[in-house]
Amino acid sequence: MRVKMTDNRICKLLGIKYPIMQGAMAWVADAALASAVSNGGGLGIIAGGAMPRDLLEKEILKAKELTDKPFGLNIMLMSPTASDALDLAAQHKVPVVTTGAGVPGKVLERLKPLGTVVIPVVASVTQARRVEKQGADAVVAEGMEAGGHVGELTTMAIVPQVVSALSIPVIAAGGIADGRGIAAAFALGAEGVQLGTRFICCAECAVHANFKQAVLDARDRGTVVTGRSTGHPVRCLRNKLTAEFEKIEAAGASPEEIEELGVGKLRDGVIGGDMDWGSLMAGQSSAMVNDIRPARLLIEDLFKEAGEISGKLGALL
Ligand SMILES: Cc1cc2nc3c(=O)[nH]c(=O)nc-3n(C[C@H](O)[C@H](O)[C@H](O)COP(=O)(O)O)c2cc1C
Repeated sequence: MRVKMTDNRICKLLGIKYPIMQGAMAWVADAALASAVSNGGGLGIIAGGAMPRDLLEKEILKAKELTDKPFGLNIMLMSPTASDALDLAAQHKVPVVTTGAGVPGKVLERLKPLGTVVIPVVASVTQARRVEKQGADAVVAEGMEAGGHVGELTTMAIVPQVVSALSIPVIAAGGIADGRGIAAAFALGAEGVQLGTRFICCAECAVHANFKQAVLDARDRGTVVTGRSTGHPVRCLRNKLTAEFEKIEAAGASPEEIEELGVGKLRDGVIGGDMDWGSLMAGQSSAMVNDIRPARLLIEDLFKEAGEISGKLGALL
């Protein structure tokens, strides 16, 4: 897509060449991946996840060494380390902060006066309207096709609704893994896209080779959402762990028992390479991820394909 920085509000806001963000992914998105994406013309994002303060600080400093381009930090609001991540974002003047899983009022209050660009991830129009009022610079509207924590609406449904409801720019996420998805997101009114699952299979992504292979091998129905009864549903590749989640949820396990089963499992899967009992967060687009490419090449290819598709659409409509 021939996106000119001057024409696109997301490129202008973030100071990037291509309107694409690499979604934060706990245990996956470190400084190496984030800086590779930023150097490739998108916005790379370090996942704060539940990382201890000293480790997260090292990642932020490492990203500053690896790129002179803007990058972001994601604060998982329900994480016990969220306030440490907020302090570090302020202290190290991280240019962009995205927030997940919660109400970002405190983050906006603290970081907006410092000039940080703050972009909450939302899963409904109500959430989107609220964060716009609180001063968010843009939102990521994420559909339930996504990997990780999910809402109820699909990308096709949420993006145009959020675009119609807000004046700030909207970034589409969930189920986008190629140029077709990017062109579709822009047709729905998005001005940028956030991809998570596709970036797992980047050359610079340091996850266990087993996890990358599992994403490459995944088929169309290869993911499942578990944990709906806890109020924190999560989409992962199907394995023994997701079958166990389904079993205990069907048997009426309490939210605490269900949450307990997941403790430490994301690390076991994505870093430890345990494909049976690790949590393998990934989205429905896994089935469309068929190769491992360096971030720069991937981003260039994605926008080349999106541009070609958008050029052909006029003749079809
Ligand atoms: C392994 C994994 C971990 C994730 N962790 C986080 C996280 O810590 N914070 C967050 O806001 N989103 C998280 N997400 C969501 C992504 O940032 C992104 O929005 C999502 O992957 C986009 O959908 P896609 O997977 O279909 O591309 C995670 C996704 C995956 C696949």
